[in-house]
Amino acid sequence: VQIVACGTSYHAGLVAKYWIEGLAGMPCQVEIASEYRYRKVVTLPNTLWIAISQSGETADVLSALRHLDCEQVAATLAVCNVPTSSLVRETDLALLTEAGPEIGVASTKAFTAQLIVLICLAIVLGRQNGHLDASRVTYLYQKLVKIPGAVGKSMKLFDSIRPIAHKLKNARSCLFLGRDTLFPLACEGALKLKELSYIHAEGFASGEMKHGPIALLEDGLPIVSFVSEDEMALKVISNLKEAEARGGYIIVIGTQAAVDLIDFAAAKIVIPDCEPIFAPIVGAIPAQILAYLTALN
Ligand code: BG6
Repeated sequence: VQIVACGTSYHAGLVAKYWIEGLAGMPCQVEIASEYRYRKVVTLPNTLWIAISQSGETADVLSALRHLDCEQVAATLAVCNVPTSSLVRETDLALLTEAGPEIGVASTKAFTAQLIVLICLAIVLGRQNGHLDASRVTYLYQKLVKIPGAVGKSMKLFDSIRPIAHKLKNARSCLFLGRDTLFPLACEGALKLKELSYIHAEGFASGEMKHGPIALLEDGLPIVSFVSEDEMALKVISNLKEAEARGGYIIVIGTQAAVDLIDFAAAKIVIPDCEPIFAPIVGAIPAQILAYLTALN
């Protein structure tokens, strides 16, 4: 699978890579459209080529589509929010996100809708190629249909996020961290904060902190970390302890069980319970609210 996208849609593609490789066992590459369109790309035979775009009109994405090696591509697929867009018209297949019109430039509901479509795609690919058995698919489906309820509950987090946004409003810079599917979510959280509040923010894979970004740590630097209660939890705790020891102001976002593991955090945002595999979908909501409230401040 080759995914091409820009901005928030690119971050949805990065999450999808974890799902497509994890659930369907298929190799998946993700690339920024503005890079892909200008370079000599090598496409593996029988590639499913996916463009993700809210609008379906982003020039770099359309140029990437027109630049691909048709000989090797089995099918082109648009994951798009606008059924009448150029992207949907020019691809072989389309999965519509049906999120309704995005009013603001910063993509929000389209992102969560893209993630839902992409995890469904990963599950279907995994079932069709035999990587997932029927009972696992049923289990995932039962959990997936609970996601809209969890997202709805996340919309009630405004009051608990308000004091954190108040703290962020004077920050010069802010780091976002995560591991596994929560790494792309960290990049998306940082992009939302930049785009809405004009505060510098960067998303990193938690494990990369020690390979350079740790030099940025100073007293009071806000570090927003997405945390999960899976096998990665212990590693995240140790990354955050190092950041806290250097004066970082640690804000954690995760389920109650996950945030309870970080007893040294300065602030906690508790998301509704969900399977760790769906955490980027539910965790996106508080990240968007945090950016919105910080911008209002
Ligand atoms: C940018 C927006 O211009 O385009 C981002 O600021 C958006 O929010 C990106 O994610 C890509 O847009 P689209 O429509 O291709 O998903």
